[in-house]
Parts: sequence; structure tokens; C-alpha cells
Amino acid sequence: MALASTFLSLYIFLFAYIFTGFACADPDSLYQRQDDGLLTSPPDYPSPWADPEANGWEQAYAQARDFVSQLTLLEKVNLTTGVGWMSERCVGNTGSIPRLGLRGLCLQDGPLGMRFTDYNSAFPAGVVAGATWSRHLWHDRGRMMGEEQYGKGSDVLLGPASGPIGRAPTGGRNWEGFSVDPYHSGVAMAQVVRGIQGAGVIATAKHFVANEQEHFRQAPEAVGYGFNITESLSSNLDDKTLHELYAWPFQDAVRAGVGSIMCSYNQINNSYGCQNSKLLNGILKDEYGFQGFVMSDWQAQHAGAASAAAGLDMSMPGDTVFNTGYSFWGGNLTLGVINGTVPEWRIDDMALRIMAAFFKVGRTVGGQPDINFSSWTRETLGYIHPMAQENLERVNFQVDVRGNHANHIRESAAKGSVILKNNGVLPLSSPKFVVVIGEDAGGNPAGPNGCPDRNCDNGTLAMAWGSGTAQFPYLVTPDQALQRQALEDGTRYESILANNQWTAVQNILREPNTTTIVFADADSGEGFIDVDGNRGDRRNLTLWKDGDALIKNVSSLTSNVIVVLHTVGPVLLTEWYDNPNITAIVWAGVPGQESGNSLTDILYGRRSPGRSPFTWGRTRESYGADLLYEPNNGEGAPQQDFSEGVFIDYRHFDRETAADPENTPIYEFGYGLSWSTFEYSNLQVAKRNVRPYQPTTGNTISAPVFGAPVDPDLSQYTFPPGIRYIYRFIYPYLNTSSSGEDASGDPEYGQEADQFLPPGAIDGSPQPRHPAGGQPGGNPQLWDVLYTVTATITNTGDRMTDEVPQLYISHGGDGEPVRVLRGFDRIERIAPGESVQFRADLTRHDLSNWDVVSQNWVITDDEKTVWVGSSSRNLPLAAPLR
Ligand SMILES: *[C@@H]1O[C@H](CO)[C@@H](O)[C@H](O)[C@H]1NC(C)=O
Ligand SMILES: *[C@@H]1O[C@H](CO)[C@@H](O)[C@H](O)[C@H]1NC(C)=O
Ligand SMILES: *[C@@H]1O[C@H](CO)[C@@H](O)[C@H](O)[C@H]1NC(C)=O
Ligand SMILES: *[C@@H]1O[C@H](CO)[C@@H](O)[C@H](O)[C@H]1NC(C)=O
Ligand SMILES: *[C@@H]1O[C@H](CO)[C@@H](O)[C@H](O)[C@H]1NC(C)=O
Ligand SMILES: *[C@@H]1O[C@H](CO)[C@@H](O)[C@H](O)[C@H]1NC(C)=O
Ligand SMILES: *[C@@H]1O[C@H](CO)[C@@H](O)[C@H](O)[C@H]1NC(C)=O
Ligand SMILES: *[C@@H]1O[C@H](CO)[C@@H](O)[C@H](O)[C@H]1NC(C)=O
Ligand SMILES: *[C@@H]1O[C@H](CO)[C@@H](O)[C@H](O)[C@H]1NC(C)=O
Ligand SMILES: *[C@@H]1O[C@H](CO)[C@@H](O)[C@H](O)[C@H]1NC(C)=O
Repeated sequence: MALASTFLSLYIFLFAYIFTGFACADPDSLYQRQDDGLLTSPPDYPSPWADPEANGWEQAYAQARDFVSQLTLLEKVNLTTGVGWMSERCVGNTGSIPRLGLRGLCLQDGPLGMRFTDYNSAFPAGVVAGATWSRHLWHDRGRMMGEEQYGKGSDVLLGPASGPIGRAPTGGRNWEGFSVDPYHSGVAMAQVVRGIQGAGVIATAKHFVANEQEHFRQAPEAVGYGFNITESLSSNLDDKTLHELYAWPFQDAVRAGVGSIMCSYNQINNSYGCQNSKLLNGILKDEYGFQGFVMSDWQAQHAGAASAAAGLDMSMPGDTVFNTGYSFWGGNLTLGVINGTVPEWRIDDMALRIMAAFFKVGRTVGGQPDINFSSWTRETLGYIHPMAQENLERVNFQVDVRGNHANHIRESAAKGSVILKNNGVLPLSSPKFVVVIGEDAGGNPAGPNGCPDRNCDNGTLAMAWGSGTAQFPYLVTPDQALQRQALEDGTRYESILANNQWTAVQNILREPNTTTIVFADADSGEGFIDVDGNRGDRRNLTLWKDGDALIKNVSSLTSNVIVVLHTVGPVLLTEWYDNPNITAIVWAGVPGQESGNSLTDILYGRRSPGRSPFTWGRTRESYGADLLYEPNNGEGAPQQDFSEGVFIDYRHFDRETAADPENTPIYEFGYGLSWSTFEYSNLQVAKRNVRPYQPTTGNTISAPVFGAPVDPDLSQYTFPPGIRYIYRFIYPYLNTSSSGEDASGDPEYGQEADQFLPPGAIDGSPQPRHPAGGQPGGNPQLWDVLYTVTATITNTGDRMTDEVPQLYISHGGDGEPVRVLRGFDRIERIAPGESVQFRADLTRHDLSNWDVVSQNWVITDDEKTVWVGSSSRNLPLAAPLR
């Protein structure tokens, strides 16, 4: 296991790190004690308990209440704590409740397919799905991924992602999400969540929040690559930016009923993501009304009772650090509850939230299907407890869960390809002689899965690297699919699948009648892997493997060059995009298993292309925001100030152009050519009558407790006789029955709660409801439709194709973006001469700004404008919103 060994090498350091760092149990006092001017995060307690009347959760809550009421403390703790890294077959496994027939929950990566198994599908990356701008494809994506996990026995799918959102284009994991725009990402998140959960699997919206770079995301990992820092990076951002940009898609996921949210590795305002009470208690659970459970990213938990008080509900993978055999929770949490350090209502709420999510997606206790794969071997036999190497038996049943998903994958990757330039060469039609050039068109010599977690960039790029990967069931390379097409058409075909065969290239390009297709790529991934000096994040925005030189050389020799780019995000096209010999540029993204077929469908015009989910700038600097590659706070947490506020990607470029009209990107957000031309006309804005916005008032119920009161007799909680102890396994039991501290080995537990937990943390009395809250997704009136906007779109060309009308608004006022996306649709198969209606509803949320004083959404008095058009810069229709 590449992943395991990477972490094992950090183990020694981590061990010391956790135990010295742990004395500061209170996440808020940690920074409040700082007098060095670093940003802090305000305390927000108590942790909100689930609401029996939350929309869409009523039945799940009742089922969960009935179930949790039967549980003992040890059983409740078992639900909240993973059994340890590689202790069982999934990447995350909770404890079980054998007495009632609940097996431990199986949690499995990831956002583009099911990781660490076989006979699964490899979908296009999120950024390609995003580029389709298609709600129904997003829903199908979720449903199919849910079906695949369901069929292997997984209960929780660790996706979709919208964090990182893509603050800087070099961010290593940007491709896992859908786009750099929060509105677009939010719609996609909600659709994928509905799809996954409709298939009976809990979805996980991740990573909450501001997890915008890989460098320094975990201090121990950074030590492993040579930086001596003691705390992880802090993303420092203001409340308005949080609400209007980074947290926005999560609000949509909560409204869609997402069962789980994963908190992130990084700190936010110098408080760790998995113990930041302002974010977990204040924003997710109180303001957004999130009713499911918050799980930690793997090793992102840094405290025991303090993280429970701050709103964490599930510890993953359960051990403090991979394979220590110790846990911040497990027995520690059991003792914490017995001693009153953690209120009983808090452990009950954790268990209730986990089980409510479980019932919400239709799962039943006793009805869970068996897990029929193991993450840790592809062989048939394996250990049920791989870390302990115990129970060798059949673990892999090679169940084929792919169904007919290949059709969707092929369609989605085609419809998510973006045609950036086309001088009329596309679509191809039985060309005389196709010459394909570039390593990126062919296979990896080691096979499609030859590099673990895709930790190389060999052959065509169809998946980037890290935990957000899946094994390819096969990979159709561009070379294979283009050659098959050529054979069908009687086209002559030659491919040179290397970037350094210069003599051969020169010779072939002397021949007449060539249609040359040049391939190049740029990769990135997760920070535990370094590929060619790219520690997760990209170190530059240029093409890899001398791709730019290849394109420039080829286009200097011949006059019909189509450039195909497989990249995780924008690359700099500046030096060659306007060469007239380059007749077309196609961004094919990170397309998954059907790569070549999808590409061929686009190049030959069988499918309609997508629209760019990010801006293509002229220089790296032109993006404004960038990542932090060197620590800037000595050995303390590197400080990443999001001082650009909401001005990332197109909002930044639009502001630059407003100041200097010459300052433009090459291709803007939302841009993409199609097979036809469209005329936009007849913009209509209909104002709806809705009642004025009422902040939510009133109080919650008091914190409920479920089942029998906790028995203070410690002897009840020790390791039961007759169970075999599994090496390094995390259990809910106490070490001894002697005293609090000895029983857990943790000085934190056993102290009086009010000695170190923040004020209010143990208060279970009714709490005022958040004015912007009230229901999952926030105050229900945020979703009132204030305007309905329509426009007519006419196909004025001669080919049937899809169009992606986009609606932008300006909020008006100083310091606001020129415009922001607030509506879109992908209208399919519009015939030549046909007119269709584009329609979009604008909600109160869409028109509001976050007001930091009233802590609510407010529609300002500033004049607002609506635009409709085909990209963020091609907006022929405009009207005031009055
Ligand atoms: C971070 O600090 C800024 C500036 O004080 C504040 O506006 C924001 O609410 C804080 N956010 C969190 C999550 O603590
Ligand atoms: C907790 O979970 C473990 C692992 O599944 C199991 O062995 C143990 O029996 C469970 N404990 C209780 C009290 O249910
Ligand atoms: C997985 O396959 C095994 C063996 O065929 C079967 O017992 C189990 O029910 C299957 N699990 C699911 C989720 O279908
Ligand atoms: C790393 O930082 C720690 C804590 O300040 C210090 O004790 C140690 O000497 C440093 N190690 C290196 C290699 O600089
Ligand atoms: C409890 O947590 C502490 C770290 O805070 C750890 O040292 C100890 O081993 C844990 N106890 C158990 C039983 O996991
Ligand atoms: C594959 O990638 C690795 C790591 O990026 C590189 O060192 C190696 O040379 C590549 N192998 C081939 C055959 O291209
Ligand atoms: C092929 O090239 C020759 C020589 O330039 C030219 O006469 C002929 O028209 C070309 N054929 C096609 C189909 O482009
Ligand atoms: C950018 O990074 C890639 C991948 O590591 C590398 O191949 C390329 O040479 C770098 N470009 C420049 C200009 O250094
Ligand atoms: C375009 O290709 C022709 C050969 O067909 C070459 O002579 C010319 O220099 C190229 N132009 C550019 C701008 O590279
Ligand atoms: C924790 O609770 C147990 C059981 O009530 C008790 O024996 C022990 O002394 C307590 N520890 C502390 C430090 O209060």
C-alpha cells in the first residue's frame, strides 16, 4: 500500500506530535492565548442536537431515535469511532453492534468511482462532469456511483467534493470538484448527493472547508517532505467570503439532504477544521440545519472531548494516527461520557445523527448486504483484519457492479469536453490521413493501473492521483479509439506515442493531406504523493513532458494541427493558441475509462461539447490568488490569507478587465464553442410576489437523551471476557476499571468539563434558533423565488446541437464582483432554426449578500442587473432587477 507506507514513515514524528500537542484540548483557547495577531475563530457552543421535525428527516429521525434508545453507551461509542486504519476491509469502518445485528459501517472512497476494488467503473473526474453543465448527468453520476458502492456492501460513499473549489488553479485536488463557481458546484453537489442517496448509500460532502491546497495540509506530512512545522496550514478567511464562496455548495448539499460531511485537514483561522466550533456547530448544524453526521478526514482529528464539543460526530479512521492502536475517542469517549466531560446528550446526538443518515437512505438494521471486497488486496483471499493479519479467508468476490454505466461515462466525458478553438476543421469527417502525436494519446507501459493511486503521469492522462481514484476496469486510449474510427472510415492512420520522436514526426509531417492531432497533459493530485516535484499541488501551469515544445514544433511544420489537452485544470496556452496552423484546441479534461471513445465522439461531431468550468488566463500571475509553497510563520502554522475574498477565477478576471479593458483572459469561465450558432433574444423578467423575509425565531427543544442513563460503575466498560483482542484495533472499552485517567491514558478525560471545555459546551437547554437557519439548507424563505427570468434561444446555424445558456447577476454596490453565476441550463438537441425557451428562477438566496452584522442574508438596496448569454463574457441580454 503506497498510502500506508507513506504514512508509516511519518509515524514516529506523528506520535510525538499528537501527544505533545494534545494538552491544549480547547480548540478556542488554543488561539485565544495567542497574542501574535493571528486570526482566531469565535467559539460557538453548545453543539446543536438534531431536530425531530427537520424537513425530509422526520421518519429517519424517528427510526434512529427508536434504535439509539436501545443502545448501551459502549454501543453508541462504537458507532462514532472507526476501528483503525486497515483494521477491516473498507478505508473506513466503524465499530459494530452485534447484539442488534448492525455490522460496522463501511466507508469507501471516492468522488470518481469506488476505490480499491475491481469490476467497478472509473468515471470522469468531477471537473469534467462539471463541464457538462448537465443536471441529469450529475444525477445519473451519483446514482450509478451509489449503485456500485451498494453492490459491494459499502454504506457511505466519500464524495462528492467541492472543497477545494479552486481558489488557485494550481491546487492539487481541484479536479475532484465540479468548477470554481459556488453556484454551479452547489447545483452539482446537490444532484450527485440525491443520486447517491437514492441508490441507498450515504453521500459525504467534502472537504469542509477552505481546503484549497495540499502543501502543509497536515503538519506531519509536511515534515515528511522537509518542512519543520508543528501545526497544519491555516486558511484565514472572512465570514462573507466563507458564506458566499467556500461554504455555499455545502449549504446546497445540506438542503439536498446529504447524510454526511467530512471536515478538512487544514485549520480555519487557526482552529482545526474538525474541532472548529464556529464552522461545525455554528454554520453547519445551527445555521444550515445539517441533520446528518460530521466525520473527520483521515487523521484530521486532533483532540478528544474538544472535538466532540465542537461538533464532530465520527472519528475516522478511528486511531489517533494510522495504526497506533490508540484513539481520541473509543474508550476515551466512553470514559468522557461516564465522567460527564462529554454530556450524555452529545454522544446520543452523535449516534442519532449517524443512524438517521443510515435510515434516511433506506438502509435497515439486519438488512445490510455483506461486504464483498477488500480495499487491501485484489486477490481472492485476504485478511478480514489486515492490520492485525487475522482471519484469512475469501474477501474478494469479484462482483461486477458496472451495469451499463460505461454509456453514461462515455457520454459525460464527451459532453464535458470543451472546444476552445475551431477554425472549421471540426467535426472531422473521413479525413484522408490522421497523424496522432504524443505520449498522452497512448497507454501507460505499466498498464492503466500500473501506478498505485495513479502516482505517475505515464501515457494518456485519464485520472489524476491520490485517494480520489479508482481502478480502471479498462482504459480506451485516444490512439485505440481514433484508429478504430479511421479504419471504419477508410482513413489512413499513424500514431507516434512519444514526445521525443522528433525525426519521425518531421518525416511524417512532410507528407501532404495530414490531419495532425497533438496530445499533451498536466496532472496533479493529493499531497501524500509527489510526482515530478509536484507535491499534490502543481508547481507550474505549463504542460508536462515538454508538451508545449511538442505543440510548438509540430505547428511550425504543418498547417492543420488539432491540439487535445488532458489537464486537471487550466494550463497556459499563451505561446501557441493563436498560431493559425493550430486549427482546433479541445480540452478533454480527466475523462475516465472511456477516454478515447468520448474524445472521438467529440472530434467527429457525434456529441455536443461542454463549457469551461474555469478561466484560461494568459499567465499564472493573472489569476491573482496563488498557493503557499513555503511556510511563512516559522515553525507555527503557515498562514494562508484569502485576502482576495470572493475574487477568484472569473470574478477576479472580470474586475481586472473592468479596470483595464486590455487585460483579458484567453478563454473565460463558461466559454466553449458548439456545433452551431445561437441567437439570444426576448429577455423577460417576471417579479413574483413573496412575503417579506422573516428571520427564524424561537427555541429548539432541549437536548434529548435516549435510553437508559449511563451507569457510573467502570467495571461495566472494560474489555469483555470471551472476545479476542485484535491487534491495534480500536474498541469502545476502558483499559482498566481503576480510575478515569488510568482507564483511558488521557489526562483530558476525567477532568471536570468546565475546567477545560468552553462555556456553554455542556449546556443542553433549549437554544435560540439561528435567524438564517430553521430547516436543512437554512431559513426556508431563502429559497423563495423572487424572479423568473426567461429568454428565447434560436439555433441560427445548420446543425442540431446543445446550448448552455448562463444567467449572471450583479449584486451592485462597492466591492461586489462585476457579476456572478446564478442560473444555467443545458438545453439538448436544438434543431437548426428551432427556438427554445431558457428559464431560470432567482431565489432570495441568489440575490442576497451575507451580512456579517445581522448574521443573515440581506438583499441590498444597490441596483441589480441580470444578464443571459453563452459564457461569463458573452452576455447579449441584460435587464435591471427591480
Ligand atoms: C475568521 O476570522 C474572520 C476575521 O475576524 C471572521 O470574519 C470569520 O468569521 C472567522 N471565521 C471563522 C470560521 O472563524
Ligand atoms: C464494537 O465493535 C467491535 C468491532 O465491530 C465489536 O467487536 C464489539 O463487539 C462491539 N462492541 C459492542 C459493545 O457492541
Ligand atoms: C457480495 O457478494 C457476496 C458473495 O456473492 C454476497 O454474499 C453479498 O450479499 C454481496 N453483497 C452485496 C452488497 O450484494
Ligand atoms: C523542528 O522544530 C522543533 C520544534 O521547534 C525543534 O525542536 C527541532 O529542532 C526542529 N528540527 C529541525 C530539523 O529543524
Ligand atoms: C486516549 O487519548 C490519548 C490522547 O489524547 C491517548 O494517549 C490514549 O492512548 C487514548 N486512550 C485510548 C484507550 O485510546
Ligand atoms: C513512469 O513514471 C515514472 C514516474 O513519474 C517515471 O519515473 C518513469 O520513467 C515512467 N516510465 C515510463 C516507462 O514512462
Ligand atoms: C492531397 O494532397 C495533394 C497534394 O497536395 C492534393 O493534390 C490533394 O487535393 C489532397 N487531397 C486531399 C483529399 O486533401
Ligand atoms: C512544470 O511542471 C512539469 C511537471 O513537473 C514539468 O514537466 C515542466 O517542465 C514544468 N515547466 C516548467 C516551465 O518548469
Ligand atoms: C505553418 O505551417 C507551415 C507549413 O505548413 C509553415 O511553413 C509555417 O511557418 C507555419 N506557421 C507558423 C506560424 O508556425
Ligand atoms: C471518572 O469516573 C469514574 C466513575 O465514576 C470515577 O471512578 C473516577 O474517579 C472519575 N475520574 C475523575 C478524574 O473524576
